Amino acid sequence: MLTSDNKARYQKDGFLALPDFKNAAEIAALRTRAGQMVDAFDPASSKTIFTTNDQVRAVDRYFLDSATRSSCFFEEEAFDAQGQLRQAKALSINKIGHAMHDLDPVFGAFSRTPALAAVAADVGLAEPQIWQSMYIFKQPGIGGEVGWHQDATFFDSTPITVTTFWFALEDATLDNGCLWVEPGGHRGPLRERFVRRGDTVTMEKLDATPWPDSRNAVPLEVQAGTLLVFHGLLPHYSAPNRSARSRHAYTLHVTDGRSAYATSNWIQRGADFPVRGFA
Ligand code: FE2
Repeated sequence: MLTSDNKARYQKDGFLALPDFKNAAEIAALRTRAGQMVDAFDPASSKTIFTTNDQVRAVDRYFLDSATRSSCFFEEEAFDAQGQLRQAKALSINKIGHAMHDLDPVFGAFSRTPALAAVAADVGLAEPQIWQSMYIFKQPGIGGEVGWHQDATFFDSTPITVTTFWFALEDATLDNGCLWVEPGGHRGPLRERFVRRGDTVTMEKLDATPWPDSRNAVPLEVQAGTLLVFHGLLPHYSAPNRSARSRHAYTLHVTDGRSAYATSNWIQRGADFPVRGFA
């Protein structure tokens, strides 16, 4: 349960850090399960994605299908010019996404707890709907930059309610590519919208407001176990990881069922696989 001070800070800054939200055992369980998923992933099956001429379409199909799967994605710099992995498979995966919270018991247990339900309620999510989970590796040496964006770009609704739950599974520092945010930036406009039409996706420009720069951005260096909650309009980015240490994190993207979830959002759920909350 959030204190009134925490609630006020969330309203003002658009984000909140809650240290020690997850304990070492919970983190270890999730890391072990993610490692097993990577072990089970056959890179030969999706390596073609990066080597065939039909590259763009193949990536899109694999990406679109991942909305309701637990799919592994490689880091952009994972392969050399000859198409060979530069380092071991386990050190080449960018992320797993995007439905582990509903497909896997270990991820489900991590993602649905009374404590999380309480935080969601306290930040105003009356009818939380968890659309997406991502396990992000931010691998040593090749962990790629994620440029400035707002998560509402990918989870549009009327009104905008998407809220991000970002769990540090390892210490996140300037060295290994921690998040940067613009405090208060959630009061700005939505700049872009990621729109799906059939099996194609496009990025639509909505607003020309520039992204923050070093004068109005702050790094969020947090310890393993910290939960960062942030508003879907909060601009954020993370630098590449050029350090020798990984920066594992886990995220959930959650909207309020009282808002109208856009039919153009790339992740949709039918009656056969309904979206659920934290209960
Ligand atoms: Fe994001």
